[in-house]
Amino acid sequence: TYEHGVVRILPDGWLYPGTTPRFLNRIQSFKFRPDDVLVMTFPKSGTTWMQEILWTMLFNPNLDNPQATQPLLVRSADLSVDMMFDTVTIDEIRPESMYEAFKKLCPGKDEEDGIAVQCLDAMPGQRVIKCHYPFDLMPPDLLDKTKVVYVARNPKDMVVSFYHFYKVIKVFDYKGSLDSFIKLFMDNGVIYSPYWPHIKQGWQKRNHPNLHFVFYEDLKADPQGEIQKINQFLATGLTEQQLKNVVQHTSFSSMKSRGDPLPDQGIYNKELHQSSGGFYRKGVTGDWKNHFSQELNHEMDKWIKDNIGDSGIPFKMD
Ligand code: PPS
Repeated sequence: TYEHGVVRILPDGWLYPGTTPRFLNRIQSFKFRPDDVLVMTFPKSGTTWMQEILWTMLFNPNLDNPQATQPLLVRSADLSVDMMFDTVTIDEIRPESMYEAFKKLCPGKDEEDGIAVQCLDAMPGQRVIKCHYPFDLMPPDLLDKTKVVYVARNPKDMVVSFYHFYKVIKVFDYKGSLDSFIKLFMDNGVIYSPYWPHIKQGWQKRNHPNLHFVFYEDLKADPQGEIQKINQFLATGLTEQQLKNVVQHTSFSSMKSRGDPLPDQGIYNKELHQSSGGFYRKGVTGDWKNHFSQELNHEMDKWIKDNIGDSGIPFKMD
């Protein structure tokens, strides 16, 4: 159990909200399709951005698809969303509109039996799937079955973003300081921990032909160049103009102007959420410098050095 009451600790130490052994079994037998694209991330690393990039590349490269106005979570469901349906009282956390959207997609399905899995099963054709699970919790032959885009963000910016999220989500109701949150994170005490195995498992597979590894910072510095690489990875064959469309449609300001990807039906502490910038909070690299004390920075540098080991993951901190 966990202090916020929403987390179960699995035997191997992963802290996933509501991820019961039963649900993990369902994931093991989930029917991936060869043309699926799975966005795999540690939270707050650019998941939503990549989901929108992939969906736009595949289904809206000319920016004329009326379905693009549907909420992202309907167009690109979250394989790990069952966390919301297992441990917490559903009404406490589940935004009604999200539930209704799922219901519409999967009429007559049994919500207790892994709604995300069922909704994804019911989605016709090619799918962009979001997933915060690491490779260890996925079927071992995942990359033989489907393509994966793994997005990583430097841990300093990621943890600042995560801290703001923890503060504004009602079920977490985190009241501690950034410093104490970061210590909790470094002790593998925040949900979706531990961080290092997650990222290292992705990095180790970076040369697999069905895995594309992207850094948030590279996407930010050169969106067109990075999206062109994805164009090659997915063999989408988009033209220069279509690539430009994708860049424009998925820029931070453009996504922010279209509103929060999670419809706010009570999961947020609304005032705090608005005052801290909403889901699309800042969308920059190096924001950690506005928040870290020298001492904290020193401590985190040491933690990174101790844990990055010889993996050689080339994080860009600036
Ligand atoms: S989640 O909840 O785990 O799925 O969050 P995730 O989408 O991984 O990460 C949220 C952070 O990504 C930023 N973001 C973007 N940055 C740049 N450009 C675009 N288009 C974009 N879309 C989302 C978002 O603002 C969060 O970062 P912070 O630092 O909090 O702003």
